[in-house]
Amino acid sequence: MKAYLLDPAVARYVIEHTTRPDPLLERLAEETAEVAASNAGMQISPDQGRFLTMITKLAQPRVAVEVGTFTGYSSICIARGLTGGRLHCFDVSEEWTSVARRYWEEAGLADRVTLTLGPAMETLVAFDETIDLAFLDADKANYPGYYELLMERLRPGGLLLADNTLRRGWVADPAHDEDTTVDIRQFNDLVMEDPRVSVVMLPVADGLTMIMKN
Ligand SMILES: C[S@@+](CC[C@H](N)C(=O)[O-])C[C@H]1O[C@@H](n2cnc3c(N)ncnc32)[C@H](O)[C@@H]1O
Repeated sequence: MKAYLLDPAVARYVIEHTTRPDPLLERLAEETAEVAASNAGMQISPDQGRFLTMITKLAQPRVAVEVGTFTGYSSICIARGLTGGRLHCFDVSEEWTSVARRYWEEAGLADRVTLTLGPAMETLVAFDETIDLAFLDADKANYPGYYELLMERLRPGGLLLADNTLRRGWVADPAHDEDTTVDIRQFNDLVMEDPRVSVVMLPVADGLTMIMKN
């Protein structure tokens, strides 16, 4: 679990009171830790995964989009919540998503997931479906660009979830001026000033912003 924002005892308590991932997701997390080494921290945490499945079940999207798939953890959580719709994944890495493809097959989800490889600022432009639910978890510098492309395609009442929006809490500390923290701060301000949406920041894992198009 990513417990950046919580006291360790509270973080432990949260783990103990959140439904655990199934063996397939646990195995994916273990394999990611082996093959991705220091990049493995990019994977969403189990509590976020459980949240994504629940929110997908509630929203019942016909078209769900994920920007930033990596080895597939979040995509599996979203795809498992689908009740008839499709998940369209966008990522630039053949290497990481080859792991995801293997797990989609094993999880019996391959027939409801589509993967488009390439820089998502380009591949999303070509995506012309109306989106019901989007999960944003790719390179942070492009969050504003992805946000605009997704918002243009999101239906009224549709949801966009953006990950890592609290940046370990650093966004609230002016002493932190690393590039990614500044990028996320700018993204958070942009969303807040957007009259098209209502927003709630959830202090889950590294911060998950839930944005609904009016
Ligand atoms: C934080 S990881 C995603 C983690 C994933 N959601 C999970 O649960 O495992 C970010 C992903 O964004 C992808 N990415 C980075 N830059 C990108 C770009 N310009 N276009 C598309 N994907 C990109 C990376 O290849 C990486 O797989």
